[in-house]
Amino acid sequence: MTSRVLLLPGDGIGPDVVEQARRVLTRVDNIHRLDLTFEQALMGGSAIDGEGSPYPNSTRALARDSDAILLGAVGGPKWDALPAAHRPERGLLAIRSDLDLFCNLRPAILFPELASASSLHSHLVAGLDILIVRELTGGIYFGEPRGVQLTEDGTREGFNTDRYEESEIRRIGRLAFDAAQKRDGRLCSVDKANVLEVTMLWREVMQELSADYPDVELSHMYVDNAAMQLVKEPKQFDVVVTGNLFGDILSDIAAMLTGSIGMLPSASLNADSKGLYEPVHGSAPDIAGQDLANPLATILSAAMLCRYSLSNSVAADHIERAVASVLSHGFRTGDIVGTDGGASVMGTTAMGDAVIAALDENQ
Ligand code: IPM
Ligand code: MG
Repeated sequence: MTSRVLLLPGDGIGPDVVEQARRVLTRVDNIHRLDLTFEQALMGGSAIDGEGSPYPNSTRALARDSDAILLGAVGGPKWDALPAAHRPERGLLAIRSDLDLFCNLRPAILFPELASASSLHSHLVAGLDILIVRELTGGIYFGEPRGVQLTEDGTREGFNTDRYEESEIRRIGRLAFDAAQKRDGRLCSVDKANVLEVTMLWREVMQELSADYPDVELSHMYVDNAAMQLVKEPKQFDVVVTGNLFGDILSDIAAMLTGSIGMLPSASLNADSKGLYEPVHGSAPDIAGQDLANPLATILSAAMLCRYSLSNSVAADHIERAVASVLSHGFRTGDIVGTDGGASVMGTTAMGDAVIAALDENQ
């Protein structure tokens, strides 16, 4: 059965990294007979330039018809002056909401070779393996009312609304408990229940769910403490589940622990396991098109695509093994050089070549 993969390279380094992930997927397709077809569409700033909208109808139609979507990155200084409702980032929020991609999985795994590239001491991060489960289609990112308006005295006020329905908390909670069951059996729910009512409800629902998962040890942590604990003793975490905004922030922290944000993949899934796969990093416009970007987060996102949307864990494992092998050979892009020396620094395309060669060697 053919699987339709939609490529949304987006802006900045997006096209650089998606091209390498496409090459890797094509090779994996040949080896494992995935029967993939690729289509491509505009997204973000390039879609604003081309079609006047960050998530144009033409892209939406292809996205709805595809089985999985691989996205690079969106945004850049060119579009920074646009009003909030017309910025490239809105395209990303629109596709997440349109396809109901409420479950965002952000694994932060330390490849042993990159310990010296981490901002923390190697002994704190050796063996790090955290899964952040971020709610992606609710909370303050989408709550109404929102806006900037004039008050009665003629000054401006800005406002957003952090809102979660019980059902939204329950569905992401279930997936997080399920994930913890398959891992080390520990789930930490992150909230700000000492201040925010919406997260008091979050905590209550997580507690209610835990009755169905006697084998999972549930703990709760305030988000400020969680940020501190992530840099103090990151290995205490197994699965972390949290709302949209806290998940955004904590996943950047977790990414840096693994050596570089250039290594972290993500999957955003709906209830049917249709998914959007993207690196956690941004569009890095300063290095776009210069063959400098690290394609590994996008290549690892392609592995997640195989695992979750194609249900092919053999292909997913194969890609992940190839990335590990490339790192163990000392191949590095500039962002993951670290301090241990002996690395051979290469560009985006050469890194893609190295992963493809490793796929062939490690069948
Ligand atoms: C992310 C990004 C996005 C977010 C931006 C680009 C809208 O930071 O995926 O983490 O805030 O969700
Ligand atoms: Mg982010």
